[in-house]
Amino acid sequence: MKSVASAPGKVILFGEHFVVYGVKAILCSIDKRITVTSKLADNNSIKIESSLGKIEANVDSITKLKDPSAVLMKPLIYIVTKTLEKFKKNVGVEIKIESEIPAGIGLGSSSACCVAAAASVTGLFEKLKREEILKFAIEAERTIFQNTSGADCSVCIYGGIMEYDKKNGFKKINSNIDLGLVIANSAQPHFTSELVDRVREFRENNEDLFVSLCEQESNLIQKAFSALEDRDLHTLGKLMSENQSFLERIGVSTQKLAFLIEEAKKTAYGAKITGAGGGGCVIALTDKTNLNNTLTRLGKHVDCFSARIDYKGLLDTF
Ligand code: MEV
Repeated sequence: MKSVASAPGKVILFGEHFVVYGVKAILCSIDKRITVTSKLADNNSIKIESSLGKIEANVDSITKLKDPSAVLMKPLIYIVTKTLEKFKKNVGVEIKIESEIPAGIGLGSSSACCVAAAASVTGLFEKLKREEILKFAIEAERTIFQNTSGADCSVCIYGGIMEYDKKNGFKKINSNIDLGLVIANSAQPHFTSELVDRVREFRENNEDLFVSLCEQESNLIQKAFSALEDRDLHTLGKLMSENQSFLERIGVSTQKLAFLIEEAKKTAYGAKITGAGGGGCVIALTDKTNLNNTLTRLGKHVDCFSARIDYKGLLDTF
């Protein structure tokens, strides 16, 4: 018996970090996926294989593993052990993760992995509803990133473009806008939870400024909704660049990211960090008139590729 599920990565078009404090964000999933294949095993052991490494241990001892791969795979271990507990199964499970999204560059690989693993592993026993998978995936992600807003897992499940806020969850944006996104990888490593902690400290030390930036971000996002509705890439791009200036104020940009953004803006409609910042990726907004120029320009400095919106979200086959 095999259960396969895949989920897309994502970019945040507007609102990262501010979303943690209740501001709306706009996200979309991208056409790069993580696929998780789960199988029942005869013995009582759990085996997990991914680009992060390989671990194998007995069901009762796997949560005690201390090696670096096991630490990185904590959400996956959580998903497997909790699933066996929920369905009262005394079996082993093997899971294999294949990814088109590099880990740790701000494109939602961790969320896509949690979503696909939650669907794939539970699918060995029962097909759960999307809402249940979302809840489970967020719980799993919280084992390594306590303060996640839940935005990334939501867009990985439902796909397309959506608005998200912590109180009301996600809402699809029905715009059939054709965004050409150029994604440039700064190759500067970053850790989302550390960046979120850094912004929490910034907020504690700059209360009034932070409140004002949240208000400005909310206003900007309202304008972005209109630009999406009007399919106005020029305005959308300008708003992205303006959003970048807020991210610089809260200290999550770097010299290299700022340089890549300035380069991208020479040909693209606008550009910004996507995700936590501190490294990771920059996104530039283009269409077919300026996509290739932007790719060539950024490609002189770093690895980059183009991406489109994924409208499928979580896919599973049992
Ligand atoms: C990370 O992709 C986005 C952040 O806003 C954190 C979160 O929303 O959980 C930085």
